Parts: sequence; C-alpha cells; structure tokens
Amino acid sequence: MKKKVIIANWKMNGSYSFAINFSKKLFNYVKKDVEIILLPSFIYLYSMKNILQKKILLGSQDISFNKSGAFTGEISASMLVDIGCKYSLIGHSERRKLHMENNFIVAKKFKIAKLYGISSILCIGESLQEKERAREIEVIRKQIYAILDIIQPEEWGETIIAYEPIWAIGTGKFANPKHVQKVHIEIRNVLNEWSEFYTRNTRIVYGGSINSTNVINFLKLSEIDGFLIGNASLIFEEFLFIYKLCVKKYSNNLLKLNT
Ligand code: PGA
Repeated sequence: MKKKVIIANWKMNGSYSFAINFSKKLFNYVKKDVEIILLPSFIYLYSMKNILQKKILLGSQDISFNKSGAFTGEISASMLVDIGCKYSLIGHSERRKLHMENNFIVAKKFKIAKLYGISSILCIGESLQEKERAREIEVIRKQIYAILDIIQPEEWGETIIAYEPIWAIGTGKFANPKHVQKVHIEIRNVLNEWSEFYTRNTRIVYGGSINSTNVINFLKLSEIDGFLIGNASLIFEEFLFIYKLCVKKYSNNLLKLNT
C-alpha cells in the first residue's frame, strides 16, 4: 500500500521565524505512517532542511524548465537537489493563471524535475466555468496527456498528482467528496490506459479548502492518498490536527487526538 501524504503549500506567506518555529514544533509529532511534505518559499528551504532531517520532506513551489544560464530570478532543478529538496510543485493553478504557464510549460518542468531526480507534485483541475459545462474530465485528461506525451514510463519515477478544482482553492468551497472520488478514479484510468506502471507509482491527493472540519468527509474515501493544503497549513494547530486525524485513520497505531 502506498504511504498517505499531506502537503502544506505555504505560497508567498510566512517569515523566517514562522518557518523555523513551525518546523521545530512539527518535528516532534511526526509518525512514520503518514508522510509530510512542506512547501515553503524557496529562501527558507535550506534552514528548514537542517531542522527536519528528512523526517519531514521538503518541496519547492516551482522549478525552472531550464538547466542553468541567463534566466534571472529562476531556480533550477540542480539547485533544488543541492539543498535537499525532494519534491517540486508543478502546474499549480496560480502559476498557470498568473504566470501564463500552459500545459506545455508544465510538462517541460515535469521533465526537467525528473531528470534531476526530483519528484513532481503535479496540480491539475478545472475552472468554475469548465465545471459548469461538465468539462472537468476532459480538462484533467488534457493536463495529464501533456505530460505523458513527452515522457517515458521509466522517467515517471514516483509522482503525486494533486486534483485541485480551481474554484475550490482558497474559497472555502471544497469539492463534493463523491465528485473527488469519481475524478480520482478517472485519473487512475487515464494513467492505466498509458501504462500500469504509472498507476503503481502515483499517489493522488485532493486540494481545495481542506481544513480540520471538512477533512473527515474525505478520509473515508478509498481513492484518496492524501491532501494538499493551503490556508489551513499556515496555522500550526490546524495543520497538526489534520495530520493527527490522517495518522489515526491511516495507521493501525491509533494516536490520541488531544495529545
Ligand atoms: P487552499 O489552497 O487549501 O487554501 O484552498 C490549496 C492550494 O492552493 O494548494
């Protein structure tokens, strides 16, 4: 069985002291049953790595699709590897929208991350308009095809796909769990159509307004391997509560929730 995972996407929030304190506090609670990946701003990665000692993994929120050179402001895959970064978030809807990253650019980022041994957390999901036109399956298929079109199964490595309906991100309007289950099954089908190898090496998580209250509705679902959490991951107690719930649900080692 694949290990469940919860991912904190801090976006452009926090500060040096926030990142350090959060890491120190969280370190004491980690159980091996559920993996945690933190995605802070690039500039805190190195300091956090020294505290987390691989008990909690780190990922970047973005990556350059170029290897090196005259690309002012960009961060390369080799630099990320250099400082112990294991994952990279790729294709988040905020980058697709605000930085004009289309499926082709996302696929190039995915490919270079793999080349350097960084696992991708690939974000996919439909807009509100696409949802209203019942086009979500078509949209996510296209987003996945863009990657599968340019890579070989052996390049896939371990990948996390985050299904994040755009209308659910940061809005407080989380998706219907039954709908999420259906989409996750569809994602597995798409991967399977190409190669069973992809399905075996992929975890599929849900993201979009997950918090300590609504997460319970998603924990019951068989097709969810974890969560990508934005706003709620910025409050330590909230994130810890979600983590403990996941550990309780996903491990045999029941944990007392109020410790
Ligand atoms: P949210 O963000 O949990 O605040 O909706 C999720 C994300 O953007 O990854």
